[in-house]
Amino acid sequence: MTSVLALETSCDESAAAYVRRLNDGRLVVVASRIASQVAEHARWGGVVPEIASRRHVEALPVLIEQVLEEAGESLDGVDAVAATVAPGLAGALMVASVTGRTLAALYGRAFLGVHHLEGHLASVQLAERQPKPPYLVLLVSGGHTELIRVAEHGGMDRLGRSHDDAAGEAFDKVARLLGLGYPGGPAIQLAAESGNSQRYSLPKGRISLPGGGFHPYDFSFSGLKTAMLRTVQAESEACQGSDLPLADLAASFEQVVADVLVERSLRCAVDQGIRELVMVGGVAANKRLRTLMQKRAAQKGIQVSIAPLEYCTDNAAMIGAAALMRLHSGAKGTSLQMGVAARWPLTDAAALYDSSTVVF
Ligand code: KG4
Ligand code: ZN
Repeated sequence: MTSVLALETSCDESAAAYVRRLNDGRLVVVASRIASQVAEHARWGGVVPEIASRRHVEALPVLIEQVLEEAGESLDGVDAVAATVAPGLAGALMVASVTGRTLAALYGRAFLGVHHLEGHLASVQLAERQPKPPYLVLLVSGGHTELIRVAEHGGMDRLGRSHDDAAGEAFDKVARLLGLGYPGGPAIQLAAESGNSQRYSLPKGRISLPGGGFHPYDFSFSGLKTAMLRTVQAESEACQGSDLPLADLAASFEQVVADVLVERSLRCAVDQGIRELVMVGGVAANKRLRTLMQKRAAQKGIQVSIAPLEYCTDNAAMIGAAALMRLHSGAKGTSLQMGVAARWPLTDAAALYDSSTVVF
């Protein structure tokens, strides 16, 4: 049995978790707490980095105390301390990184600097049924929309990506346009519940290939955003001061995003002969997307595993899961000299667990 204390402060959620790997390989979240700063950032319509860092400093020590108490454990019982070190807001990342390194040094435990996206990928291992590679991952969050093939030996390669906004970013921007608040995903989902998703015909952004035709697995959401703006302008003129049809606008937008994510992911899986699809990240919490992916994948005989709802958006349990998987495959720990990196490709994540790597 191996236990880790995991910390996450890469954006606007401060989080700590106590996660265990049992001898049979199962991962158990013993305690997980999140202190969301969403309400504070909502006033500004998005994340304010300086406010995020300050709130992390205040929240993290309390969260650590709470998870240790809930787990009935002390730091003497952990095998390692893990913290997200890349990618994200540098000042925010620094909070979990410095806290994690300090605790690891004080208690003589290994430190693991975890890649945030590797954490999202590991979140699916906290589901009832754990998928086994090879599989295709649709990673859909506020900063990323990517299709990643995970090979049998764990190696990753990216087969598709967004060329402009990430899907979550599109949700956030369109929610702002509709006056629905921040974060946009949950607000649009709620507004869309009573809406007609077929009322507006919206574009499924495509990326042209130099030799003609379109990239089969890449995404573009900027045209959709512009189309939403035009539709809202036309509706505002037409309704002359009366209320905009918000539910229909939200539902039509949500439907086209879900459609395009599902279509391209399944096309990629079928073309590549991959029989299993995994969906993770904040947008994977979307009900319409979850239902549509399950239904269309079943029609094609593709098995789907989606991260549990509570571990789709940022949390520390997924960071603990990623750290435990790395420890199990032989990682000894990250250097205590390791800083943080605002950008770091997921395909280079392995370098973070090599004790000779130092980033600032
Ligand atoms: O994974 P996450 O918490 O943070 C990043 O690493 O980016 O994802 C946050 C994103 C936000 O853009 C938010 O609007 C979106 O996930 N999101 C959703 C839902 N819940 C969160 N999008 C659609 N439907 C939801 N229910
Ligand atoms: Zn995230």
